[in-house]
Amino acid sequence: MPSLFISRSTITDLDPMSAAADKYRTLRHKIDHLSAEKQTKIIVVTSALPLEGKTTTAINLAIAYGQAEQKVLLIDGNLHQPMIHQIFAVPNKLGFTSILAGLCPVEQAIKESGVRNVSLLPSGPYPTHSMDPLASVQTTNLLESLKKDYDIILIDSPALLAVTESSEWALHSDGVLLVIRAGMLKEDDMLQAKQLLDQLQIRIIGSVLNDTKPNSKISYYHYTGAQRKI
Ligand SMILES: Nc1ncnc2c1ncn2[C@@H]1O[C@H](COP(=O)(O)OP(=O)(O)O)[C@@H](O)[C@H]1O
Ligand SMILES: [Mg+2]
Repeated sequence: MPSLFISRSTITDLDPMSAAADKYRTLRHKIDHLSAEKQTKIIVVTSALPLEGKTTTAINLAIAYGQAEQKVLLIDGNLHQPMIHQIFAVPNKLGFTSILAGLCPVEQAIKESGVRNVSLLPSGPYPTHSMDPLASVQTTNLLESLKKDYDIILIDSPALLAVTESSEWALHSDGVLLVIRAGMLKEDDMLQAKQLLDQLQIRIIGSVLNDTKPNSKISYYHYTGAQRKI
């Protein structure tokens, strides 16, 4: 992804003709192409480290799917440091954790984003008791039932090497999109993240090189399909 000169998390909606918006649409196309071969309906957006651009990628990819008239659900899977509700200015009192705790029905937790075809499931408050919401069968059941209502489900998650949440989400998904921030790339961290995904037999749908400079030697935008080595 190109560097967003004005840091705007929803650029694909605010400026659909921009180069960045176009790149997110290209990313959508590539994922759609893969879906023809293997079901790719629940995608976790992750990275080795924090601040690589997971949330930015998840949001803009969601908007790009919405623009293609696909019904999208964007889940804030970062239960520790949720951001989606802040960016879209929706409340986080009820969300994923509230559904799991039986505090509200699914319909009450899901919010409209204000962007065409894009719905949001905020994280909800962090669970105070020791339950591990992601390891529960309710999460599997919830995602299975949401799959019937949406064409694509994108899950924004925390960094793989920081907390276990990300790999737990990935186990519920059809694969992960690995975001790598140009200039932040450390080979050891990348290898460690890849090893973790391999050990858990999690499919890497592709990798996205984020925040590249247009005139740098590295490509302006880069997407690597799963079959190639990252
Ligand atoms: N391509 C980009 N160009 C400019 N700023 C970006 C880009 N991608 C992300 N950012 C900014 O970097 C910060 C971290 O991005 P974010 O998507 O929140 O990362 P993560 O979710 O991986 O922690 C945010 O302030 C975001 O606006
Ligand atoms: Mg984030």
